[in-house]
Amino acid sequence: MASIVYRTAVREDKLPRISPPRTRRPQSHCGCRVIDLPWMTLILQARQRIAPYLRPTPLHYYPLLSELVGADIWVKHENYQPIGAFKVRGGINLIASMSPEERSRGVITASTGNHGQSIAYAARLFGVPAVIGVPEDSNPAKMAAMRSWGAEILVHGRDFDETRERVETIAADRGMRYVHPANEPMLIAGVATIALEVLEALPEAEVLFCAVGGGSSCSGALLVTRALKPSLEVIGVQSARASSAHESWRQRRLVTTGRSDTFAEGLATRVAFEMTQHILWQHLRRFVLVDEEELRQAMIHYLDRARTLAEGAGAAPLAAALKCREDIRGRKVVLYLSGGNVSREHLVHVLTDPRSWT
Ligand SMILES: Cc1ncc(COP(=O)(O)O)c(C=O)c1O
Repeated sequence: MASIVYRTAVREDKLPRISPPRTRRPQSHCGCRVIDLPWMTLILQARQRIAPYLRPTPLHYYPLLSELVGADIWVKHENYQPIGAFKVRGGINLIASMSPEERSRGVITASTGNHGQSIAYAARLFGVPAVIGVPEDSNPAKMAAMRSWGAEILVHGRDFDETRERVETIAADRGMRYVHPANEPMLIAGVATIALEVLEALPEAEVLFCAVGGGSSCSGALLVTRALKPSLEVIGVQSARASSAHESWRQRRLVTTGRSDTFAEGLATRVAFEMTQHILWQHLRRFVLVDEEELRQAMIHYLDRARTLAEGAGAAPLAAALKCREDIRGRKVVLYLSGGNVSREHLVHVLTDPRSWT
């Protein structure tokens, strides 16, 4: 492949445009491929910014999963991150890029768990006060972790969207930096570094499955692969019981759904978000919905065949790969295992539900 030249003339404080990358090649004088990408600049800066704090996560090949799916399956182990989920990449990138003045005001966000853990963990690293709003029935394992990183926990609302609305009001009252769960270029750029690592470790990858909640990780994967390996097919996955991102993608407008009662809390949102949806509208070609039983089965397959722990959202890409097995037969497939933060009670439920054994 021709070498790649990155242009880095973009100011970090400028919001990146969401238009598709302009790619010109070959360049007449040296034959290099030139990528003129504000997003890629942010993503490469993110990689440098998070490198002192996070190691690249492993990408492992699993014969037993490959046999099950009928394709060559590699798993990107974001469940091995220090908070047990990929979100930490975005949290560190965002807080590391804040000014000292902004840091002194503290940060506030709403989360069903992993985004909150990410902000709490990153805030602790940089000595920044953090408030995390969580819904009333939040995963106790995730809440305990957020507290352990020193964040103040604010329990409010029956679901994520009620919590988010409340947090947005409090942010203004307390003068804290509100961190939006999706409309944040630094979060998207931070989590996009997963795709850089995948392409470096497995340049021959052909298909990549990625769970979609707010849409940051799928957006990041799309931005990186469209710039560096457009032939790599990115497939988004959402729970059929929380399908606002899927509906919005399908209708090309922001759609709010009536429900988000999936047990995969990382995917549980009733609303879709503008910045990530624009990226999905431009670049995502395939988006799959999976049901609760498929998610549960995928968690069990991860335990049985890879000896690794996936939470519901983390197992969604495997559930989708099984659903699409005819289309991906024999191909080189990467599954983002985005998180493994399951409470003991929930894991027992997953393992003992009779339908799990079918
Ligand atoms: C484990 C896990 N996977 C996937 C997602 C969805 O990620 P995104 O909001 O970037 O679409 C989340 C969101 O919190 C998550 O916690």
